[in-house]
Amino acid sequence: MREDAQHALAQVDEARLWRRHVEMARIGAIPNNGVNRAALSDEDIAARTLLISWARARNFGVSVDGIGNLFLRREGRDAVAAPVMTGSHMDSQPRGGRFDGIYGVLAGLEALEAIDAAGLETQRPIEVVAWTNEEGGRFPPCTMGSAVHTGARALEDFLEVKDNDGIVLKDALARTLAATPDAGARAFGSPAAAYIEAHIEQGPRLELEGKTIGVVTGIQGLRWFNIEVSGKTDHAGTTPLKLRKDALRDAIAIINALHELTRDDSDTLRFTVGRMLVTPNSPNSVASHVLFSVDLRHPDRATIDRLGQAVEPAARAAARQCSVKVTPTLHDDPRVFDPGVVDIVEACARELALPCMRLASGASHDAMYMARVCPTGMIFVPCENGVSHNEAENAKPGDLAAGARVLTAVLLELAGR
Ligand code: GLV
Ligand code: MN
Ligand code: MN
Repeated sequence: MREDAQHALAQVDEARLWRRHVEMARIGAIPNNGVNRAALSDEDIAARTLLISWARARNFGVSVDGIGNLFLRREGRDAVAAPVMTGSHMDSQPRGGRFDGIYGVLAGLEALEAIDAAGLETQRPIEVVAWTNEEGGRFPPCTMGSAVHTGARALEDFLEVKDNDGIVLKDALARTLAATPDAGARAFGSPAAAYIEAHIEQGPRLELEGKTIGVVTGIQGLRWFNIEVSGKTDHAGTTPLKLRKDALRDAIAIINALHELTRDDSDTLRFTVGRMLVTPNSPNSVASHVLFSVDLRHPDRATIDRLGQAVEPAARAAARQCSVKVTPTLHDDPRVFDPGVVDIVEACARELALPCMRLASGASHDAMYMARVCPTGMIFVPCENGVSHNEAENAKPGDLAAGARVLTAVLLELAGR
């Protein structure tokens, strides 16, 4: 590694990176060290404002696109060259932790600051992006910002999505955009030379194997559906069971059938029903309507295709009394990352003498969409007991800084000198 690159790596400041995680975790803090920072909420706006203040203190450029993806930019020697991008997301799960997403944004900013502090010029600009609504916990589906930015989905597809309180995405987005009036406007689909995302692993493998760096080879396939069951509300005390159209009873039958459909002795397949809205949601009224989510994941394309296609027929066959509507909301095929970027991540980790291993991601990330438009890779760092999407999510300051150093080295390599 060149001496000036080593100088930049030495500027990665573990204490500052940790302090920023602590500061961000105050925004949307919930008991037990958790974070609830829903996409396009007041807390999301506060996180954006804080991030922009850190970027402006270093004179990095700030711009926002039409779905609120937020870009911080350090210019390169060639101002018109496509930037190398890094980043992740600042929104969290409703009972999320302090690292999922925000680590990739803060590690990106740390790398940018380190390169800046070392006074290094890169050929290409480098940008840190905070993608809007990666989690999809408030406004499903997930990875919305990167899907729209890369042109895989249209913004219009999502504007009418409602959260559990009936708030429409388009209104929450307008409030969020209005909160950062000084950010420059950014078009969708701006080209990127490469994308590299840092993230906690969200699984146990790195910790179990005693590795500090995960060299991520790709992301498993994903299908999401909304299933709506429509029946009729009735008096719980008086209506004979045989006369009912009980939407909740049928919803449960459907969920059981889907568990059967997705049974997998190898425990590779992932099937989750995590969200359910029951109407009228009263103990003594028969449910007239149930909406629930289906999240289905598998690394093999043929398997995820077959199962994805089987969801609707299985749901219809399981319903006894009610009508069923199945709406696919997300369709991501398994994605293999660019071998060149994967090799660079591994080479940088080895050069820094950090124990590393290759692994595929079980979780989804915005890198999935960026991989459609440019050479892409990811860097994982361990998280305690592999726990994530949980308040107990935890990571070590030293591991976070090690990941940021690898990220800095990879960015320098990709951006050219
Ligand atoms: C992202 O949080 C995912 O659901 O994998
Ligand atoms: Mn994440
Ligand atoms: Mn997540």
